[in-house]
Amino acid sequence: MMEIKRIFVVGAGLMGSGLAQTVAQSGLEVVLNDVTEEAAQKGFSRIQSSLEGRVAKGKMSEEEKDAALSHISCAGTLEKAATCQLVIEAAYENIGVKQAVYKSLDEICGPHTIYASNTSSISITSLASAVKHPENFIGMHFFSPVPVMKLLEITKGLRTSDETLQAVKAVGEKMNKVIIVSKDMPGFIVNRMLDPMINEAIEILDQGIGSVEDIDNGMKYGCNHPMGPLELVDMIGIDVHYSVMQVIHSELGESKYRPSPLLRKMVQAGLTGKKAKAGFYLYDDEGKKVSVNPIFAG
Ligand code: CAA
Repeated sequence: MMEIKRIFVVGAGLMGSGLAQTVAQSGLEVVLNDVTEEAAQKGFSRIQSSLEGRVAKGKMSEEEKDAALSHISCAGTLEKAATCQLVIEAAYENIGVKQAVYKSLDEICGPHTIYASNTSSISITSLASAVKHPENFIGMHFFSPVPVMKLLEITKGLRTSDETLQAVKAVGEKMNKVIIVSKDMPGFIVNRMLDPMINEAIEILDQGIGSVEDIDNGMKYGCNHPMGPLELVDMIGIDVHYSVMQVIHSELGESKYRPSPLLRKMVQAGLTGKKAKAGFYLYDDEGKKVSVNPIFAG
């Protein structure tokens, strides 16, 4: 089995940088990539402040922080992927965007490079068709915020080899994650349950059955969820959730998976959640929740 020592992460957004941070904290080398060097550096700065926060709280020593940061380098192009045994792609949740990334990577990397997608819904088998060796292709789905959430959901495509599965399981264990393995079906295991629940919360709001806060408090205090579904979808990204629901609905066809019309309108209105400072709630510049979005008040 190939030992993975150096990982290339495509996408330095919230997911990609959280992922790079977790890889670095586990002692593996990581190259954090985005479409420009500046975008990758922005991801690095996010990691730096996250680790500084842990030092300030006494959860990590200054030396441990410096050691983690020393494992990370940034790249504005894909070339350095050739120096890594594993590429984890956390690019925009769109099949065209992702396949284009894999086609470019496949020109750069050798025949043994393992490709993993952090997709939350797109078929691993279809993404694998973009590369010359689909047996080296697998799904590695992490949960936000990656340094905190313990789960790694691995998905085998139709042609994924057992060696690939074992190699990424070993990486997941080094990252201290609890691993579950799913068949390649829309939404895999977790989003097949989570996203219809969030979608139903939006339907409940749209039908005037409950207010934003009552819906969230219902799940927080009635079911012990750490966040209500509307606050959670603001964090995940309302546009991301919409695209996942579209994939699940179009592939499984059942009306129970139909994206809520209010969900679609929120995306059309640019109300995509915390990153836009407005979703079901409003947020300040630091990402702190300020109030319910007045659109839904009263
Ligand atoms: N990065 C790193 N660490 C973070 C963090 C971040 N973005 N956000 C919070 N933390 C850390 C804090 O530093 C703190 O660490 P310590 O306990 O070591 O001090 C810990 O997490 C708890 O944070 P807080 O006390 O600030 O806040 P909290 O107790 O309210 O927890 C939360 C925050 C962890 C986000 C919690 O509300 C939670 O678990 N929410 C649910 C998250 C969830 O369901 N994620 C899955 C989303 S679905 C997905 O990602 C998949 C998909 O396909 C879209």
